[in-house]
Formats: sequence, structure tokens, C-alpha cells
Amino acid sequence: MTSPWLQPDTIAVHAGREDLAGLGVHALPIDLSSTNPLPDIDSGGLSYESMASGGTPTEGGAVYARLWNPTVARFESALAQLEHAEAAVAFSSGMAAMTAAILAATAETGRRHVLAVRPLYGGTDHLLSTGLLGTETTFCAAGEVAAAVRPDTALVVLETPANPTLDLVDIRAVAEAAGRVPVLVDNTFATPVLQHPLDCGASMVLHSATKYLGGHGDVVAGVVACGEEAAAALRRVRAVTGGLLHPLGAYLLHRGLTTLPVRVRAQQAGAQRVAAWLRTHPSVARVHYPGFDGDPQGLLGTQMRGTGAMIAVDLRGGYEQARQVTASVGLFTHAVSLGGVDSLIQHPAALTHRPVAAGAKPAASIVRLSIGLEDPEDLIADLDRALTARRPAEAAAPARA
Ligand SMILES: Cc1ncc(COP(=O)(O)O)c(C=O)c1O
Repeated sequence: MTSPWLQPDTIAVHAGREDLAGLGVHALPIDLSSTNPLPDIDSGGLSYESMASGGTPTEGGAVYARLWNPTVARFESALAQLEHAEAAVAFSSGMAAMTAAILAATAETGRRHVLAVRPLYGGTDHLLSTGLLGTETTFCAAGEVAAAVRPDTALVVLETPANPTLDLVDIRAVAEAAGRVPVLVDNTFATPVLQHPLDCGASMVLHSATKYLGGHGDVVAGVVACGEEAAAALRRVRAVTGGLLHPLGAYLLHRGLTTLPVRVRAQQAGAQRVAAWLRTHPSVARVHYPGFDGDPQGLLGTQMRGTGAMIAVDLRGGYEQARQVTASVGLFTHAVSLGGVDSLIQHPAALTHRPVAAGAKPAASIVRLSIGLEDPEDLIADLDRALTARRPAEAAAPARA
């Protein structure tokens, strides 16, 4: 079947800009209004009603920025098109987006059970395991979803590739196993350049837009792409809870989307080179990278059109070596987050996955790399130095005879 969608590179440049020519502008306008003049009480009230019920503004206008903003709406439209979705709803962070998705699926339906396929980003794992939102969560493996679905299950949550170990999950298989239960896929690592979860049977796609979508490390944001009905539920939750994306952030994200496909492909090419080199290094026990352990589920080239730019490295020297490497890199920044134009390294067990229960935490020997746009040979030289560097204490100690 021919896809009705343009190619991602074309969508990335043009989507969400459909009204610009009519406005007589070429660059994305930024509307910073917190409130909007009302034409009259009747139409203002009707527009308010429309947005508070999850719809869009009517003749009465945007009324108030917690309900709607045109700069944010343009970014949402662009992201929806990139994800092959009817709609998208943006939030102040990836976790605000996850919170809204869980609330919309549970509080709005009265069903309280969530199925979560581990591994997940530590913040998502933590939000679900604490039950903070009034949910009860069963953590399971992808193959256990069918058996774990209950009459009160409201949502299945999964990541593929998963943070931090790059495990791939078969979205089609999980969606089939979930039956009537909507499946939310966190597509932060793959981006719509490499994977379209909705085309594989998922109901919702979530991004920490802080990562590849923004791509420059200067915006914290989240977004969910889905069908219009689910989007209306998300807008209702957002209008009440207020986890809004600021228009300046939306502008930066929308501008960043234009280079998303180019960035992702270039970062992926660098990551492939770095991952292959890491595999040959004597200090490295294992490199977690899509395809390195084969592809038993046949997901590469079908569900996922590439291998991405995230790498997890299991160090033979364990936690001590992780401390040494993260302290010794020069080009890599030792920092959490990912997906930007510059390379980052971090220790998931100590940081991004710190709140995860002991049995499900990533191994202490693992460091996670986000490969940026630098020349991969320079990154390799940096890692090589860091992997062989001695810790300051060792360096200061007198050599033994
Ligand atoms: C896969 C994934 N999902 C969600 C989040 C949460 O996003 P944010 O930090 O924008 O709230 C993160 C953050 O690292 C992430 O890596």
C-alpha cells in the first residue's frame, strides 16, 4: 500500500507552516500572549467551552494561553504529521506528557491498571511504580502482555529502543497482545525518522522532545501524537493540570524539526562507527546497540529503519571504570539527557535510572553514550584516552618497583 504521507525529510521542512503565507510571513511567528482579547461574552464563552472539552478555539478565539496557543499548535501539527498521526499535544516536559497520557487513560476512564514493559526510562518507571497518579502498575516483559492484561487495564507503556539498554520491542506483537487496551510507545530514542509506532498498531507515541526533536540541548518539552479522540482527552488534562509548553520552546522545537532527519542520520552514522570500534576494545565487555546481538525478532529494516545514535557500553572494570571514564572524557560531556548535536556520556544506574527498583536497575558497569555530530574518529580518540586513563589517585601514586 502506498503511504499517504510525504517523506519525513519533506514533512520536517514544511509541516505546521500551512498558514504562514496567509499571514504574509515566511518564518514561524511567536505569539507570547498569555491572554487574548475577547470579541464578546457569548463567542468567548463558547470558545472556552470548546477548548476546555478538548477541542480547538472557535470564533471567540484562544481566550487564555493555558487552553491554546498558535505557536504551540503549529509545532503540534508538524509533529503529528511526522508521526503519521491525526493530532499531537505538547507539554512542558516528557514527564508532563507521560503524566497527562496516564491520567487521560486512567482517571478519565475509571480504569486504574497500567501494564509497563521494562526497561523504561527511570523517570517513567518511578512515576508508575510509586502509584503517584492513583494507578496500579504491573511491570512485565513484552511477551507477558497478553497474560497480564486485566479488565481494568487502561494502558500499556513501552519504549523501543528502550532506555538505556537499547532493547527492541515488537510493537505489532504487543499491540496484538494488548487487544482493546491502547499501547503508548515512547519513541524518544528512534524519532519518527527511524520508526513510526502508529503504523505498527500503537495508539499513542510519546517523545521527550528535550532530546532529538529539539536537538540542541536548549528546550525541555514533551509531546504525544495520537488520534483526535485521544488528543482531546490529553488537551482536557492539560487545560486542567497546566503542563504547558511555552511558545518560545515550541518555536525552537519547530525550527529544530527541519533538520531532524539530517541530524538523526548523521548522528546514526557516527554511532555505528563508534559502536563498532567499542566492540573491539579490550576494556569493553559488551556493546548494547541495535543489531549487535542479531535481530531475532526481525525488527531492523521493518519496524525500525535504522539503528539510531544511542549506545550502552558494559565496562569490564565495572562501576570504578565507569567513574574513571566519565571523569576522563574531553569531547564527550559527562551529563544526562541525549539526542543533541554534541555527544554526552552518563551512568544510568547512578543517574537517569537511579529511582528504579534494585532488580530492574541497569548494571553498575554500564555507561550510556549519546552520539552527536562530531567526527566519529575524534570521539573514538576521546573514548580511547578515557578508557585507558588512570584515575587521579593511581596517577598520583608512586610507581612500584
Ligand atoms: C526515553 C525517555 N522518555 C521520557 C523522558 C522524560 O523526558 P523529560 O526529561 O523531557 O521530562 C526521558 C528523559 O530522559 C527519556 O529518556
